[in-house]
Amino acid sequence: MQLQDRVVVVTGAAKGIGRALATAFLAEGARTVVVADLAAPEVEATVAALGAGAVGAVLDVSSAADLEALVARVEEEHGPIDLFVSNAGIGTGEGLEASEAAWDRIWRVNVLAHVHAARAVLPGMLARGEGYLLSTASAAGLLTQIGDLPYSVTKHAAVSVAEWLAVTYGDRGITVSCLCPQGVNTDLLTGGVGHTSAQTVVAQGVIEPEEVAAAVVAGLAAEQFLILPHPEVAEYYRRRATDPDRWLAGMARLQARIQSAAEPG
Ligand SMILES: NC(=O)c1ccc[n+]([C@@H]2O[C@H](COP(=O)([O-])OP(=O)(O)OC[C@H]3O[C@@H](n4cnc5c(N)ncnc54)[C@H](O)[C@@H]3O)[C@@H](O)[C@H]2O)c1
Repeated sequence: MQLQDRVVVVTGAAKGIGRALATAFLAEGARTVVVADLAAPEVEATVAALGAGAVGAVLDVSSAADLEALVARVEEEHGPIDLFVSNAGIGTGEGLEASEAAWDRIWRVNVLAHVHAARAVLPGMLARGEGYLLSTASAAGLLTQIGDLPYSVTKHAAVSVAEWLAVTYGDRGITVSCLCPQGVNTDLLTGGVGHTSAQTVVAQGVIEPEEVAAAVVAGLAAEQFLILPHPEVAEYYRRRATDPDRWLAGMARLQARIQSAAEPG
């Protein structure tokens, strides 16, 4: 997909990867980019910084009703949505101790939001015979996230939702891509520096959100399903599939190294 003159929605676009995507889409000539996020003051600041073509929407992607209302409003005010980017996501930094409430929240934000967005936007796309869905999952959705069980599970599920949509609607004009970065320099990562999960990600190398956005623009142009801003993730994914025991043993050694480095003394 070329972005020239397109109407695009990006959730979680007030900062981080979503904001970099919105910036890149406007630079590529998108007509309207909807900056959709929870945080009203940050939406306003981002829209002001992005300038012409950016419009704001405040919503909670964990709510199906919010997503439905967003799609209806954007299509009424700006025309059909060409590209819907389900990017908002959260982590927990927790393992088995994660509470039921934490599981419920992350399941809604990292998984069901992708389902509800597709449910809201697909009928129009199918009627027009074209449309593009991009989900931000994570390399954790192809591999695992040391130190964060709910993040690992929900990101695997997010990849699975994207795959299912691609299989089910691919022959009806719908294209699906799934963005799976490793470490990216955003508040999600830097806010969790005390956690094993963030320490593991940082240890493997962190790139800037703008580098992710450049990979996404190229991946959309190529209409590639998996967009991997860290190309080494493709090799890790291959190793996991071809020799799971060896891959698990390597990950266990990495987890032990991170933990012993974090221990005082
Ligand atoms: N930063 C990384 O290292 C990294 C790596 C792989 C994948 N990701 C994924 O990239 C996506 C973006 O993350 P980021 O690093 O830019 O994080 P970030 O915290 O900088 O930005 C996330 C944005 O999503 C918004 N958001 C959170 N919950 C929301 C909700 N319920 N409704 C609406 N908006 C909501 C936040 O307000 C924030 O503006 C996430 O899905 C994340 O899991 C991040």
